[in-house]
Amino acid sequence: MEVVICRNYEDMSKAAGQKVAGLLRAKPDAVLGLATGSTPLGLYRELIRLHKQEGLDFSRVTTFNLDEYVGLGPDHPQSYHYFMHENLFKHINVNPRSVHVPSGTADDYGSYCRWYEQRIKECGGIDLQVLGIGSDGHVAFNEPGSSLRSRTRVKTLARQTIEDNARFFPRKEDVPVFAITMGVGTILESRKTVLLANGKGKAGAVAAAVEGPVTAMITASALQMHPDCTFFVDDDAAAGLKMREYYQWIQAQKPAAPRTQ
Ligand code: PGA
Repeated sequence: MEVVICRNYEDMSKAAGQKVAGLLRAKPDAVLGLATGSTPLGLYRELIRLHKQEGLDFSRVTTFNLDEYVGLGPDHPQSYHYFMHENLFKHINVNPRSVHVPSGTADDYGSYCRWYEQRIKECGGIDLQVLGIGSDGHVAFNEPGSSLRSRTRVKTLARQTIEDNARFFPRKEDVPVFAITMGVGTILESRKTVLLANGKGKAGAVAAAVEGPVTAMITASALQMHPDCTFFVDDDAAAGLKMREYYQWIQAQKPAAPRTQ
């Protein structure tokens, strides 16, 4: 696991943008796993800038989103379909047929979830998965207690997550209680994972995920088992890290490190 501590949100977003852009330049038909929420907005702005100003090409890219609220159709302003369209897809040249966001209005979630997993495999697996982290330590909607081998399925949102996400809805009662989400096992199969976190509210979750034990109570801690995982965090989100200076030392040595593939 690599921990990159950035001065602020903008630097964090740009650093993550460079990581995604580096992959797309090396592999123009990459499969990207994408996340919603406030955290990745700066990354998406950076990818849009790289597309418009530097010609970063998404025409051969395939995308899979992590999750969606159960009950919200793609045109609902709080749906993750709508979020992705407004904040990324409509600004870049991704082929709409190559975009996948889990359906929040499936007739049969069991078979739909199996299809979603199958579709990821058919597309060759996820090359790079972008993640946020909940204040309760979740990744995607894998709330505390989720199996660390879980696959795409329907989950009940924790009260804390409903509280956290209420800011996007007119009233707290409007936040759906259920969501369809990739599992921790699904996420762990992606070739690279990039987790973004900013703000004081994430400091406890980041510290637990990076330096605590691997536990289903903090599903982001399962990333300690991932062979290629980078946490990009701003100063505030890094505040609880005991080994903070060590991570900064590693980053400072990086330019002189032997090159590896
Ligand atoms: P946020 O959500 O980016 O809106 O803080 C993160 C998450 O819940 O994964």
